Amino acid sequence: MKLLDARRDLYRRMAHQEGYRSRAAYKLKELNLSYRIIGPGFYVLDLGCSPGGWTQVAIELSGNRGKVMGVDRSFVEEIPNAHVLRGDIEDESVVEQIFEFFGTKVNAVICDLSPQVTGTWSVDHARQISLNYSASKIMDHVLARRGNALFKVFDGEYSNEFRDYLKKKFVKVQLKKPKASRKTSSELYHICLGYLGS
Ligand SMILES: C[S@@+](CC[C@H](N)C(=O)[O-])C[C@H]1O[C@@H](n2cnc3c(N)ncnc32)[C@H](O)[C@@H]1O
Repeated sequence: MKLLDARRDLYRRMAHQEGYRSRAAYKLKELNLSYRIIGPGFYVLDLGCSPGGWTQVAIELSGNRGKVMGVDRSFVEEIPNAHVLRGDIEDESVVEQIFEFFGTKVNAVICDLSPQVTGTWSVDHARQISLNYSASKIMDHVLARRGNALFKVFDGEYSNEFRDYLKKKFVKVQLKKPKASRKTSSELYHICLGYLGS
């Protein structure tokens, strides 16, 4: 077994043993340790949340005083202490339902959106970036000033343009690849701190 495969199995095994619904949970944990995207008491919106690993971690990080909502177009099994909305983030009417749940703006928006991949890289990349623009439109409605965000990107032709777009909205934008992310995968994470407001 290659070292890479072994590591991948390690995160999958850990997720199974520790009760996380996805190995992606460890990506958020690691990034949050370095950047404190989510802190205690935070209201957190998780866009593209299925099966729910990030949502579970967001619940832990935000604690008793926090509030967490996940949105996905796919079915998500109930997650204790979180509200899950089945909906399409490209449909801006979800904003209303987000406000209905939180009753105010949120402190963090986390986006791990992936399109249904076609296998044609240019198409998948463009589609994933397009989902991120849709998510950032929602973010502009719901994120409080000085709030934080996290966006996964399939790295490619349009990544720099998206990063520049984010840089105009936040005090600091940092690009990272967490250890739990496969080296062979093109995914990178934009950590966005200190929202300047819409
Ligand atoms: C990689 S998964 C998220 C994994 C999740 N962060 C976790 O830890 O369990 C990406 C998700 O994006 C969702 N997604 C893609 N396009 C969407 C859209 N337009 N609206 C809502 N969800 C979408 C997919 O259904 C999929 O569940």
